[in-house]
Amino acid sequence: MKHLIDPTDLSVAEIDEIMELALDIIDHKDKYNEVCKHKKLATLFFEPSTRTRLSFEAAMMELGGNVLGFSSADSSSATKGESVGDTVRVVSCYADIIAMRHPKEGAPHFASFVSDVPIINAGDGGHNHPTQTLTDLLTIRREKGRLNNFTIGLCGDLKFGRTVHSLIKALARYEGIKFVLISPKELRVPDYIITEVFEKNNIEYKEVSTMEEVMGELDIIYMTRVQKERFFNEADYVRLKDTYILDRAKLKLAKEDLSILHPLPRVNEIAVEVDDDPRACYFRQALNGKYVRMALIMTLLGVKA
Ligand code: CP
Repeated sequence: MKHLIDPTDLSVAEIDEIMELALDIIDHKDKYNEVCKHKKLATLFFEPSTRTRLSFEAAMMELGGNVLGFSSADSSSATKGESVGDTVRVVSCYADIIAMRHPKEGAPHFASFVSDVPIINAGDGGHNHPTQTLTDLLTIRREKGRLNNFTIGLCGDLKFGRTVHSLIKALARYEGIKFVLISPKELRVPDYIITEVFEKNNIEYKEVSTMEEVMGELDIIYMTRVQKERFFNEADYVRLKDTYILDRAKLKLAKEDLSILHPLPRVNEIAVEVDDDPRACYFRQALNGKYVRMALIMTLLGVKA
């Protein structure tokens, strides 16, 4: 039985197989519409979500399976004091696979020790979000036609941004990727990313504080939201929240084939005027999330078309 807790739980070969399967699902939807008949996905979301939970649920429905779960800790027995371990042990009696989001880093990892069915980390605090990473990789693959040899700028909250941490870990295993880290000093990537990912693997990276100085170098820009819910101090959030806003003026400095990604939700960091630009990929990215989660569910359940 395999769980997905950290993006590196999947080898590059396994990720490539999931990408191929997702692409085949996109091209041949009818072939897959009953492959998970009689299978159940439980979505245990102790923290809010729109895309991740609903795309998981849509994915299972489009595979012919069923869905159960809860969308907030308030509607579960967590409010009565039940532990994550007990919750997961019980739900693994009812479902064949579990997607779990929790504000505490490591909660899905702990759940994987007590579960009788595969656990998918659907986001744990500021730590990891491996299924967003699969979504991002499928989007890059579809937009650029490859997963190697490009320069990617990651912009915004690189400290608490779990999507950023997971994407860096995954992309670091592909050839010829250069990373440009755009953040205020307070929101730089954690030290372990610098030492354990970039320096240990001799990967080219630089840290800058403005978008303008690097826009023209980038093949991909990955915008992120400054996350109010991760700050201990409201004043710091207010001071930093609008540091970076991608708008038409900044896009004039960018390559014509730039790809603009964002895991969403966005607040102000991408102006709405950018949505009509063909380089804006973020709504296509949200759709890719459903297809890649279909491929992941099939893979972890060992289901074939
Ligand atoms: N990208 C993402 O995780 O979005 P949600 O929080 O809406 O699931």
